[in-house]
Amino acid sequence: MTFEKLAVDPNSKARAGKITTDHGTIETPIFMPVGTRATVKGVHQRELKEEINPDIILGNTYHLYLRPGTDILEKAGGLHKFMNWDRNILTDSGGFQVYSLSANRKIKENGVKFKSHIDGSTHLFTPEGVMDIQRKIGADIIMAFDECTPYPCDYRYAKRSMHMTHRWLDRCVKRINETDPLYGHNQTLFPIVQGSTYKDLREQSAEYIANVGAEGNAIGGLSVGEPDDEMYAMTEHVNSILPEDKPRYLMGVGTPVNLLENIALGVDMFDCVMPTRNARNGMLFTANGFINIKNKKWEDNFSAIDENAYTWVDTAYSKAYLRHLFSVKELLGLQIASIHNLGFYLWLMREARQKIIDGTFRTWKEQMVKNMNTRL
Ligand code: GUN
Repeated sequence: MTFEKLAVDPNSKARAGKITTDHGTIETPIFMPVGTRATVKGVHQRELKEEINPDIILGNTYHLYLRPGTDILEKAGGLHKFMNWDRNILTDSGGFQVYSLSANRKIKENGVKFKSHIDGSTHLFTPEGVMDIQRKIGADIIMAFDECTPYPCDYRYAKRSMHMTHRWLDRCVKRINETDPLYGHNQTLFPIVQGSTYKDLREQSAEYIANVGAEGNAIGGLSVGEPDDEMYAMTEHVNSILPEDKPRYLMGVGTPVNLLENIALGVDMFDCVMPTRNARNGMLFTANGFINIKNKKWEDNFSAIDENAYTWVDTAYSKAYLRHLFSVKELLGLQIASIHNLGFYLWLMREARQKIIDGTFRTWKEQMVKNMNTRL
């Protein structure tokens, strides 16, 4: 994998770049649509590719390991073939899902014992095992096994957890160096900075991660309930330590405003369930603000879903029609809203990239943040 930094905004830390892997190029900043269970929920590959057009999507080790399981994925020839996606894939390691299972897991030095949310069966994730699973899934970018700490998190716990995440990282690196990819394309491991909301821990963690010399680095443990300003403070500090010449991935973030603010701080990659999950609840993001399409006020509004036409659904259907689909709980409503929101997120990233290249990112961002915080 290579990363080329093409431009830096003169008035912020924002960068425009290009990652190249065996599955093609990824223009950054990038938002990676989440395809947890080998599908970006509600979106056909044709629309994903031709309309939303991301260079990379995300899958989840935890879910894919439980279903369909690594045997099926290996028989299919890996996740790319299984889901018919020939561009890049990144898989998260399960560190976050295990955190979400809080009542049903035990974290020890060796790894995490957890109960499946599906049938209650017991499983053990170790750093080595998670690397082996990610080899079998076959994503281009794979994530280290970590512990995502909750918020708030007391200092002693955060410190102990961070050190364990670092020891787990060493085990991940060792396992990856001892094993080979299974499907003829390279896989690269991104380590994850932890340290909760403590500046000194974030600093130690960023230094540790920077020393590993990986091809890209991630920031985890944020967007778990802390105020936005604390998130930004952590990103800013961590980014001052992580190498400039490697992509930086902020995990699980966030709202369109969060994306622009973190791009301004030097983040290149994002993922979040927000555009698809909120779409399924009737929340649409637009360049002028967000709307709840279930609201009665849209009942007889026959204007296009979004005149900016990020994808074909935006002008093919009216707000009144989409509201109707939501009110009668038709599946098509969820699909249209998901395509719209992802189209908007990817547009926002392409626009940010162009503004960085033009040197006008900062003023554009400030105006966009104001607009996007409006409830329509
Ligand atoms: N997704 C969002 N945050 C995190 C994190 O801290 N770790 C992992 N592995 N995934 C995440």
